[in-house]
Amino acid sequence: MDGNGRWAKKKLLPRLVGHSKGLQSVRKIIEYCIKYNVNTLTIYAFSTENWKRPIKEVDGLIKLFSESISRESKKIHSNNIKLKFIGDTSIFTEPLQLKIKEIERETSRNKRLILNVALNYGGRLDIVNSVNSFYENQKIIKKITEKNINSGLYTKGQFDVDLLIRTGGQQRMSNFLLWQSAYAELYFSKKLWPDFDEKVFVNALYFFQNTERKFGSI
Ligand code: IPE
Ligand code: MG
Repeated sequence: MDGNGRWAKKKLLPRLVGHSKGLQSVRKIIEYCIKYNVNTLTIYAFSTENWKRPIKEVDGLIKLFSESISRESKKIHSNNIKLKFIGDTSIFTEPLQLKIKEIERETSRNKRLILNVALNYGGRLDIVNSVNSFYENQKIIKKITEKNINSGLYTKGQFDVDLLIRTGGQQRMSNFLLWQSAYAELYFSKKLWPDFDEKVFVNALYFFQNTERKFGSI
């Protein structure tokens, strides 16, 4: 979800207005995923590197997450969406952590769409945590396998990433789901995240549909 800041700047508005506007695009993409039968959506809301931003922006973003979880939780549940937070959420305040746990528990049996929200997430952190948890649980350490690493990731039990969409014109991974995206198709759109719409989504789906996936074969 890249481009909120630039969207706001273009309109001479504070960056946080761009983030609020970006939230509307989150609602839209959830709708499209349901409409087009996508089973899992992961949104990159806050990375382990985003702490480098000015404190005012960081605080504003966290407030926005917290408020939207409260406001949208009923709607998420009634739409049969399973909400899961990936990343190290232990850094957040106790009330926010409780809210996160509560909605995860409430929606845990929902089936229509898995919605992962990456908060204080980093792909490298994910892999390192997984390896560490494996060692902590093992008495005798032999060799670690791909399966072991998979089973300790925040996304354990879920599919690998099929399609990765990045808006905002940059073409990089920015530490997002590095392990899980090993064979992902990458789609980059110049549209800024607040301007994300069904056309961008459908174009990304067409791109995906028309790509022959070989997974290293011929
Ligand atoms: C959204 O866009 C990123 C987050 C959700 C934190 P940016 O804030 O990175 O927007 P630009 O790149 O400055 O335009
Ligand atoms: Mg950016």
